[in-house]
Amino acid sequence: MRISSFLTKKFLKSLFFPAHNRGAALPKKLVKLLKGPPGYWDLPELPEIGSPLSQSGLIAKSQNEFSERFRAKGCFFGVNGASGLIQSALIAMANPGEFILMPRNVHVSVIKICAMQNILPIFFDLEFSLETGHYKPPTKTLLENVLKRINFNEKKIAGVILVSPTYHGYAGDLEPLIDVCHQKNLPVLVDEAHGSYFLFCEKLYLPKSALLSNADLVVHSLHKSLNGLTQTAALWYKGNLVNEHNLIKSINLLQTTSPSSLLLSSCEESIKDWLDKKSLSKYQKRILEAKNIYKKLIQKNIPLIKTQDPLKIVLNTSKVGIDGFTADKFFYRNGLIAELPEMMTLTFCLGFAHQRDFLDLFVKLWNKLLLNSKKPKRLEVLKSPFKLVQEPEIEIGIAWRSETRIIPFSQSLNKISGEIICPYPPGIPLLVPGEKIDMARFNWIKNQSSCNEDLVNFNIRVIKT
Ligand SMILES: Cc1ncc(COP(=O)(O)O)c(C=O)c1O
Repeated sequence: MRISSFLTKKFLKSLFFPAHNRGAALPKKLVKLLKGPPGYWDLPELPEIGSPLSQSGLIAKSQNEFSERFRAKGCFFGVNGASGLIQSALIAMANPGEFILMPRNVHVSVIKICAMQNILPIFFDLEFSLETGHYKPPTKTLLENVLKRINFNEKKIAGVILVSPTYHGYAGDLEPLIDVCHQKNLPVLVDEAHGSYFLFCEKLYLPKSALLSNADLVVHSLHKSLNGLTQTAALWYKGNLVNEHNLIKSINLLQTTSPSSLLLSSCEESIKDWLDKKSLSKYQKRILEAKNIYKKLIQKNIPLIKTQDPLKIVLNTSKVGIDGFTADKFFYRNGLIAELPEMMTLTFCLGFAHQRDFLDLFVKLWNKLLLNSKKPKRLEVLKSPFKLVQEPEIEIGIAWRSETRIIPFSQSLNKISGEIICPYPPGIPLLVPGEKIDMARFNWIKNQSSCNEDLVNFNIRVIKT
C-alpha cells in the first residue's frame, strides 16, 4: 500500500495527535484553503508573505499582532515542530560548554541539541509515581533544593528548562518556580508543547500558561495542543534574560530556507481561531465536555488518572493487571486509536472536535477488554534510579562523537552509553550519551522496557574503551 492510500484510512475513533482530530477541528479559514485547487497555495517566500524572521510581510505582521496581544517581546512561527523551536531556544540560551538545568522528563529534542552543541545537561530528578509510572511536576521546594546543590562559582549555568504540562497533562504552578530561577538571574525555557491552549482559557480553571507566568521562552506545539497541522509550532519570548539577537540567529540556524506556506498559514490560523470569540466559546465547550466525559467514566468505575489537562484521558490499565501496550493493541484492533501506551497506562487525546460517541464506545470496549483478559499480570514499575542532581559521567558532546561499539543491552552493565535510548512516544530519554549504565540504571531500563516491544532485547552503542 502507498502512504497516500493509507492517509485516507478510516478509523472508528482517532484519539491521537494532531489534536484537530483528522480535520474535524481545523480552523475554518484553513479548511477553505485546503478545499481550493490542490497545491495552489504552496507558495515560496514571496515578499508579501516573508518568513518568520522577516521584518515585514504577512508573517511578521501576524507574529507582531500575537506578541502584542500577550505582551510578549516576540513570537515566531515554526514548521519543524516544537522540537525545532526548543532546540533554537536552547542554543540561544547556552554556549557550548555551558550548563543547562533540566528535569529528567525533558523531551529528546533537548538532548539531541545538547549533544550537537556540547551544551551540558545537569538533570534534576522529579517525584515519580509507582502507581502510574509517571513523573510528577516539580515543586518550588524541590527546585530550591536542586539550586542549593549547584556550585554557581564553578559552573556557568546558562538557564533552566521546565516541562509543563507533561504528555499526560500533569502541571503544577509555574510562577513560583520561575521566580526562584529569576532570583538567580537564570532564564527559564518552558516546554509547553502540550499546553498551548491554556493561553486562551484563563477562566476555565486550567493551569496558568507559562507565557502568563513570566517564563522567558515558551514553546508551543500547535498540532499537539491547538488545532494546527502537524509540524506547526510557536516560540514566544519575554523579559531581558535572553538576548534577542542570539534568539534570531539560533532560529535562523535551524530553520529551513523554504518554510511551507501552508504550515505557516496554519500557525496563524490556529492562533487566530482561539482569539475569535465564537470559536473560543466552541472550544471552551469542548473542554467542559471533556471534563464531563472524565466524570462519567469515573462514575462507571473506570480507573482513570486525574491530570490537569481535561483533554487527556489517562487510563490506569495496571489496576486490572493489563499493561498499556496490550490495552493499546486491543483498542487499535477495535478501531479506537490511542496516543500513548506505557507499562501502567494508556493515554487518549480527545482533541478539539466534538467527541459524540466516544463515551459509549470507550465503555463498551473497556468491558470487552476486561472480559478478554483472563490472566491479570503483576505489573510493577521500579523507582527511578536518579540522584536529585546528576550529570553524565562524560560530557554529552564528547560521548556523542566518541567511537562506539554495539552490544546487546544485557551486556552493557557499567559501560558508558554513546547514544540516546528513548522510547517514542513519549520521547523522554531513559539514557543519554555519556551516562553510565550502573546496576540501578540497568535494572530500571530493563524494567521500563519489559512491556515495550521496541525495547525488548535491544542493542546499545557504548563507548569503546
Ligand atoms: C514534552 C514535549 N515537548 C516537545 C515535543 C516535540 O513536539 P513536536 O512533535 O511538535 O516537535 C514533544 C513531542 O512529543 C513533547 O512531548
